[in-house]
Amino acid sequence: MKTRRYQVKKEVETILKQGHPWIFKSHLSSATNVFKTGDLLSLVNAANEIVAYGFFEKDSLIAIRVIKFGKTPPDIKWFKAKLTQCLSKRENIKNFTEGYRAIHGENDGFPGVVFDVYNKTGVLQTYVPSVDPLGRYLASVLRKELHLETVLWKSPSRRKKEGVTRILYGKETKLQKIREGKLKISVDVGEGQKSGTFLDLRGLRKFISLQNLKGKRVLNLFSYTGTLGLAAEVAGASEIWNVDISKGALKSSEDYHSLDKKKYRYIAADVFKWIESLPPFEKYDVIIVDPPSMASEVKQVPVALKAYSRIYKRVLPHLKPNGMMIVCCCTSRIGRKQFTEVAKKSLSYSLSKIKSLAPEDDHPVGFPQGDYLKILVFNK
Ligand SMILES: C[S@@+](CC[C@H](N)C(=O)[O-])C[C@H]1O[C@@H](n2cnc3c(N)ncnc32)[C@H](O)[C@@H]1O
Repeated sequence: MKTRRYQVKKEVETILKQGHPWIFKSHLSSATNVFKTGDLLSLVNAANEIVAYGFFEKDSLIAIRVIKFGKTPPDIKWFKAKLTQCLSKRENIKNFTEGYRAIHGENDGFPGVVFDVYNKTGVLQTYVPSVDPLGRYLASVLRKELHLETVLWKSPSRRKKEGVTRILYGKETKLQKIREGKLKISVDVGEGQKSGTFLDLRGLRKFISLQNLKGKRVLNLFSYTGTLGLAAEVAGASEIWNVDISKGALKSSEDYHSLDKKKYRYIAADVFKWIESLPPFEKYDVIIVDPPSMASEVKQVPVALKAYSRIYKRVLPHLKPNGMMIVCCCTSRIGRKQFTEVAKKSLSYSLSKIKSLAPEDDHPVGFPQGDYLKILVFNK
């Protein structure tokens, strides 16, 4: 692989020594002006020794994404060994489900590349153009390794411009039905959010389906296609309200994620407005609050935290005595400590015991910003 040499500043060398995979634009010199998006840079220190290799991205705050630390350049053998490592971490999960994340970006050492598997279909997501070739290469190896019949490519960074999911291999495929423990989940891989569904919520689905919810009422806010509601039904819940702004997602909930439709209410609404009109007598045994990230930029964090706090305080009076409240936060811009503090502060007057759910093995956390999903369970 052809590389271009770039001598990093002392502070960048320190960042690299800590094993951090991102170098921000603000840390680079004007010497990088000659590089193009996608160039593989060999990063050298003041002593002219190579310390890492990374992909350059011209139009991004994160200007270099490290693919390999150390002196020797990445080659095919190295990529394959790393992929084998990734797959071996997923072996146990494959006994439980047919839907799992094979590559979790930087956390697995492959910057900006996510690859999800649903049965014989793979979905590649590349988060910046500089890693498109890397993503496509990894997809081609995984296709053979996992005997995939179809591979789709979703590129969030280009979606606005190009709009569509591309087929890299095989035929067009829409709905994939996967088993996840006791749950049967349908995933619209072409049109669904992310790679089709929220695979990262598997741990929470597992947790809910293992509760004894016999005869309980569940309010599932920001429900998307209702897989958490289905987990509650499997746990015995007698009434489940799925609330989401997306009518399409609610339609999928109704079509695919219920065992007994009579137990469900589907409410297409803006949760923030809807909750204001919920009559005080409506009480639930379990309330789930899993909003969208609401903070794609650091400056949006205070507004997002305020919105979280407002909704927690507003729903708390609807929780029955001995009820359970589950709150999620899906952005790394809000830190674990910060999120826990806001949730505790908004809920702690009446809720005491807190449990934090750990990520599943296919969503490892490899660096601080990789810790994006926080799930807290509060018991009254
Ligand atoms: C993180 S996802 C929730 C995933 C879901 N808990 C699941 O089990 O798959 C966030 C959801 O919030 C919905 N949403 C975004 N803004 C909303 C709003 N203001 N009111 C209601 N739903 C909203 C989106 O349509 C999306 O389905």
